[in-house]
Amino acid sequence: MSLSFEGRVVLVTGAGGGLGREYALAFAERGASVIVNDLGADTKGGGKSSAAADKVVEEIRAKGGKAVANYDSVEDGEKLIQTALDSFGRIDVLVNNAGILRDRSFARTSDLDWDLIQRVHLRGSFLVTRAAWNHMKNQKFGRIIMTTSAAGIYGNFGQANYSAAKLGLVGLANTLAIEGHKYNIYCNTIAPVAGSRLTETVMPPDMVAALKPEYVAPLVLWLCHERCQENGGLFEVAAGWIGKLRWERTQGHTVRQKNKAMTPEAVRDHWDKICDFTDATRPSSTQESLQSMVTVLSQVDANPTAAATTSAAGGSAMNPALAVGQKVSTSTFSFDHVQCILYALGVGMSTKDPDHLRFLYENHSDFSCLPTFGVIPSQAVLMDGSLSSVPGLNIDLTQVLHGEQYLELHKPLPTSGTLRSEATVADVLDKGSGAVLLLDVNTYSGDELVCFNQFSVFVVGAGGFGGKRSSEKAKATVPPPNRAPDAVVIDSTTRDQAALYRLSGDWNPLHIDPSFAAMGGFKNPILHGLCSFGFAARHVLKQFAGNDPSRFKAIKVRFVKPVLPGQSLQTEMWKEGNRVHLQCKVKETDVVVLAGAYVDLHGAADAPPESLTQVLGAENTLHHLRRQDDLFVMGVCVCVCVCVQGGSLQSELVFAEIGRRIESLGSELVRKVNAVFGWEITKDGKTAQWTIDLKNGSGSLHRGPGGGKADVTFVASDEDFMEVVQGKLNPQKAFFSGKLKIRGNVMLSQKLEVILKDYAKL
Ligand code: NAI
Repeated sequence: MSLSFEGRVVLVTGAGGGLGREYALAFAERGASVIVNDLGADTKGGGKSSAAADKVVEEIRAKGGKAVANYDSVEDGEKLIQTALDSFGRIDVLVNNAGILRDRSFARTSDLDWDLIQRVHLRGSFLVTRAAWNHMKNQKFGRIIMTTSAAGIYGNFGQANYSAAKLGLVGLANTLAIEGHKYNIYCNTIAPVAGSRLTETVMPPDMVAALKPEYVAPLVLWLCHERCQENGGLFEVAAGWIGKLRWERTQGHTVRQKNKAMTPEAVRDHWDKICDFTDATRPSSTQESLQSMVTVLSQVDANPTAAATTSAAGGSAMNPALAVGQKVSTSTFSFDHVQCILYALGVGMSTKDPDHLRFLYENHSDFSCLPTFGVIPSQAVLMDGSLSSVPGLNIDLTQVLHGEQYLELHKPLPTSGTLRSEATVADVLDKGSGAVLLLDVNTYSGDELVCFNQFSVFVVGAGGFGGKRSSEKAKATVPPPNRAPDAVVIDSTTRDQAALYRLSGDWNPLHIDPSFAAMGGFKNPILHGLCSFGFAARHVLKQFAGNDPSRFKAIKVRFVKPVLPGQSLQTEMWKEGNRVHLQCKVKETDVVVLAGAYVDLHGAADAPPESLTQVLGAENTLHHLRRQDDLFVMGVCVCVCVCVQGGSLQSELVFAEIGRRIESLGSELVRKVNAVFGWEITKDGKTAQWTIDLKNGSGSLHRGPGGGKADVTFVASDEDFMEVVQGKLNPQKAFFSGKLKIRGNVMLSQKLEVILKDYAKL
């Protein structure tokens, strides 16, 4: 289908000649009403004439198009937009194109040379865009183009003024892309090269003739079309070629050590590493960029002995030689139809779809368990804290991200029974900023192998131990074919999706508790990555295997970004023989959340459904999120409200109150919690210990290490403890900055949080 601009109102600045003229003609030809703005200045910004704009308007009208002229300078931004409103009643598209040159070697650049360039390019684009902004915001549609230049991106002799203004436009566009996104205002930047009066002084005539503006215009039209979802992009374009640019950053190097001055000599000594682009990363947001700095802060400050030779993400005591092949844990999992149905509901199945009944009703003649339920019996390996005690794996469980998942079924899953899962460390990879653990889990029913899972777990900050980067044991992700998907399913998650999914056994409060999620840097609790995984898998099963679980063989996904409960998942699928490639996006933000994914089926996949896109649910609100993954920070969240003053140890009063609660509710707490918590509160070089025993008898609170051995111990100063308890100190910050330390089974901190939150409102 050709791209039409019928009904759209487009303003092109500096459209009296060169590239702007070409854009104006092309938009008009496709039905847009065009405002042809041009001051009619000479290339240096002098003079003024209406002739240039008039001529282009005449050209458009002669071809039956709609256009009006505007002769104001872009420095009168409001007037340009007023012409659009007066003539056509709205403004949809703005192409900031007007430009002049005042090239001088830097030393000879006058104030006027500098100011004029900034005024026309940077300030002019700002003023016209600001005048258009609220109109676009109110109508919830806008497409804006900024015009930069290779001179801005790379620098060019004699163009200091122009380079500065042109790169300024990229910065302007980056922020407009963020601010405009939720209003469907997208802003992109192009760096064109074309023959025009601006370039005829620097290019040979045959090149001026060959590099036609018409080889640039199609990119501008696509970026300005309502169907184009590109936002915040930067493109070089010339001669019919178009390429996209992005930032790249080296792994970098931490040259600071705790309690030591950072020196220029340390910078000098590690210069090669600082500048080494091997394994470069590509941060794409300020949050992402800052995240690694925060990690460095916590690592350096928490570790007084961190050597100056550690990588940006810190040192590591990983020992693959010791760890690989080690058994992590063996767990058993008993279940019946209740767990199968709960899981099916957790991954979005609904009685609204009659096909789903076989997974939701135990008396259905084909009652079955969803194939991806196969991850559930094996997930204890990540949940029970046993990873941190494997020899050679020096893992901080709070730094663990679930990166990828592979699941292979050796037979269809039963709908009840007892399964035994055995987890082994298959490999440990050194990715510089972190380590990747490959955990293989075989799940058996008796002696029969039912399924195999490979968890790929990223441990932030555990890299740099000199290990290998890749492994033949890793089940690799595979990019989708380079064509439009064969089927697309859009399916809403509900506001309570995570609340429902966690009932299948992943109790991480990150997915339900707003304060815990905030500790992980999220605005709201996020959906389990394995929940989106379940959604995507059942989309494939329905579209390409008639919902028949016995045809499911394997699935692989990479978790890229989090999903918020309530957002819609858009699963895009490509059929290639027995394999269905897939990619999952959040519909509202167009952000890819599952990538490099595929489902392998027994027998060739069915033909793609006739209707390409199936919408299964309503759409929901959108949010921007920083790069974070599932299973993030599992710190401690203490939610006790208290106001205590005086006394030698303020925390004494908090524990006294906890003791009173245990006296009245002890047996119930023991039944629910079944763990012993140690607290070490420090003040003036002394340590006071408390033990909250909710494992034995009807529970007890001891001053000192009494009771059973603590399963998890928290260490904080009296002051910091009170700050956290009173909500003045964010527990995550306290944890990262070393103010709150946790030893032992970190996962149990979740239970502590439950006790304190529900039973100790002081
Ligand atoms: P051009 O000189 O043919 O067109 C620029 C137009 O802007 C002229 O018609 C001029 O009258 C108008 N203009 C100047 N000041 C104005 C103002 N204050 N208000 C309204 N209109 C004004 O130049 P060309 O090559 O078509 O350039 C278009 C844009 O592309 C410029 O922003 C330029 O910096 C940029 N660019 C062009 C490259 C090329 O190879 N042609 C390379 C990189 C960037």
